[in-house]
Order: sequence, then structure tokens, then C-alpha cells
Amino acid sequence: MYCTRNVSDSVVWVGASDRRLALFENLFPIPRGVSYNSYLILDEKTALLDTTDASVTRQYLENVSHSLNGKPLDYLIINHMEPDHCANIAELLLRYPHLTLVGNAKTFAFVSQFYDLDLTGRTLTVKEGDTLCLGSHTLHFFLAPMVHWPEVMVTYEETEQILFSADAFGSFGALNGHLFADEVNFDRDWLDDARRYYCNIVGKYGIQVQAALKKLSALSIRTICPLHGPVWRENLKYLLSKYDLWSRYVPEDNAVAIFYASMYGDTENAANILAAGLAEGGIKNIALYDVSVTDVSVLIAEAFRCSHLVFAAPTYNNGVYPAMYNFLHDMGALSLQNRTIGLIGNGTWGPVSAKQMQQLFSEMKQMNVLEPVVTIKSSVKEDSLAALCALKDRILASCTR
Ligand code: FEO
Repeated sequence: MYCTRNVSDSVVWVGASDRRLALFENLFPIPRGVSYNSYLILDEKTALLDTTDASVTRQYLENVSHSLNGKPLDYLIINHMEPDHCANIAELLLRYPHLTLVGNAKTFAFVSQFYDLDLTGRTLTVKEGDTLCLGSHTLHFFLAPMVHWPEVMVTYEETEQILFSADAFGSFGALNGHLFADEVNFDRDWLDDARRYYCNIVGKYGIQVQAALKKLSALSIRTICPLHGPVWRENLKYLLSKYDLWSRYVPEDNAVAIFYASMYGDTENAANILAAGLAEGGIKNIALYDVSVTDVSVLIAEAFRCSHLVFAAPTYNNGVYPAMYNFLHDMGALSLQNRTIGLIGNGTWGPVSAKQMQQLFSEMKQMNVLEPVVTIKSSVKEDSLAALCALKDRILASCTR
């Protein structure tokens, strides 16, 4: 049976949610599931905006068929060619013989890389600024390369002022009946997953996201329809301001996140001592994570959120403890920058983790590593306690409370 919701009188959400998938992109845990959004515009001509993942095909095709109510499907706009959104192209071509695929030159290069389809006479290639009239609705196409893949474009419908934003402004999390962000407590229940989605999926491409935001600022937008998560029709400034911060790598919160790895509890002890000292010093927003038991996507999202980041790790195989190294490598790959950093290394013999972490941060942009860089030999003793205390004082001096 169909399960749809109206975005407006003539725009229908025909997507579906998956609550069974454990790992999005086979990488990111999604305990709250994920939605694959697709939208149908009903006018003299009909147009679908993207399709869905294969996991929800049965529901999706039923939604499309019901919403068309016997009308032909004229256009499929392919804003993004990643398989979580394009898995049903072949099926739609079979079911709707007059369907024309709309995309840019890169879109169709990717279509042919993924699929073996005879698209003769069934494509419309668009460029930046091109339009497509459906009757009372007119679509405008804008390229948004690397938000999240190079072929990505966004589609703006001028009459209802709807932006179909592809991956931009999306979130992990299944839609549990509510379609609109104003129907849920987004700040309480969704923001963490929206941040985790942005930082891990698109975080590397801050410059390109800024370029897209600049382009979109010229449009009058009433509704944002992303490919994942809730639709936005109120308080768009809230979401836009988050994207502006994230894509400029500006911390959201004056906060200290302490990330530690610990084999026998001694590096954890150092992290706890530092956290307690910061709390005594008046820092309210402190987060403490064991990197061995916290998914790296959560760690990355917290690193994007917080202004001050402390990393405490043992030496392992003459290098940085693997779970911490993986986290730092991910952080560098995602281009995180512009943070104040504290470093604590540990080692029973030949401690090198602090020095090697410092080297990793020297390769990232605008990472201000505070002195002292603390080295512990096996466990915290009076000398390393004094160094920890000095680091705490430097953090307190630089962190607004
Ligand atoms: Fe949700 Fe980049 O695909």
C-alpha cells in the first residue's frame, strides 16, 4: 500500500525509510535509520525528483504509481547519481515508456558507468541555469559539484519556491510519520544526526558547500526538500546558519571535547583529571570520549562541533594507538581546521604518540596546538600532573565560558 505525504497541493513526497540498514555506505552506523526522499511534481507535465535506494523499491514504486493516479510520468530529474538515490532509474524507464531522464553531462556519464541502458531519445541534458517548464511550475537547474559528488545539481522550482537540494541539508534518521522539520523537535532529536551526516559525508567539501550557499543566496526559498531527513518549510535560517558554520570549519560551540585511547586506564585517568580541572575552572560544555568504543563518525561530528579538542593516546608499535590514528587520519581527510588542540601522549618506553600526533596536526590547516604537549610515562605522576595542570590552564585561558 502507498505511504506518501504532501509537501504542497501539487508536490508529493514519495520516498521511504529504511530502519534495517546497520551501516550507511557500509561505514556509518544509523541506529535511527535513514530516509530516501523522492518528490513528485504534478502539473501538465509530471516530474520526479530523484529515485531511492534499492532497499525501499517496492514501497517507492507503489508511492509513485498511486500519486500519478494514471497520469504518465514525463520527467525524472537526476540531481544525484549515487546509488542510494538512483537505484530505480531502470525500473522507472521500463514502467513509464515516455519518461525522459534529465541531468547534466556528468550525470549521464555516471548513468552509463553504473548501468547498461539504452537511453536513445530518452535524455535531456541541462546546463547551469537551464529551465524546464512543467505547466504552472518551472524548474531551474544549478550545478553544485562535490556536494557530494561531482555531478550533483540542485533544482529550484520558482512558483512554489522549493529547493530540491540533493544531499545538502539532509540528515541520517528515518522519517517516523513526520515529514517536516517543524513537526519534530529538530534541535533536540535530529541535530546530532544532521551534523554527523554533514561532517562525515560532505565535510571535506567546505569550499564547494560555501560556493553552493552563495549561489543559493540569490534565490527566494520557502521550502527545502533534501534527499534524506526532514523537509524544511520554517526557520530555514537555523539550518542555513549551521551549514555556514560547518562548511567554514567554524566551531558551533565554545566547548572542550577530550578524546582518549587507553589500554589499561592510565591515559583515561589523565583525560579524567584534565576534564575535572576544566570543570572546576568553569567550563560547562565538556565532552569525553573513549575512541576505542565510540564510532569514529560520532567523534568526527564532535570535532566539528567543539572549539577545543584534546587528544590523549598511548604509543603503540612505535606510533599512535590505532583507534586514535584512524580518527586523526579521518579528521585530516575531512579537512577539519581552525581548532585549538591539546595533546597528551603516553608510553612506558619510547613514548612517541604525542610527537606523532603533533606532526599530524601540523599537516592540517589552522590547528593551534597548545603548549605544553604532555607526555606521561606509563601513569600520571607528579611531573606529568604538573604538565596536565599547565595544559588545563592554557585551555581555560583560551576557552570562552
Ligand atoms: Fe545520499 Fe551522496 O548520496
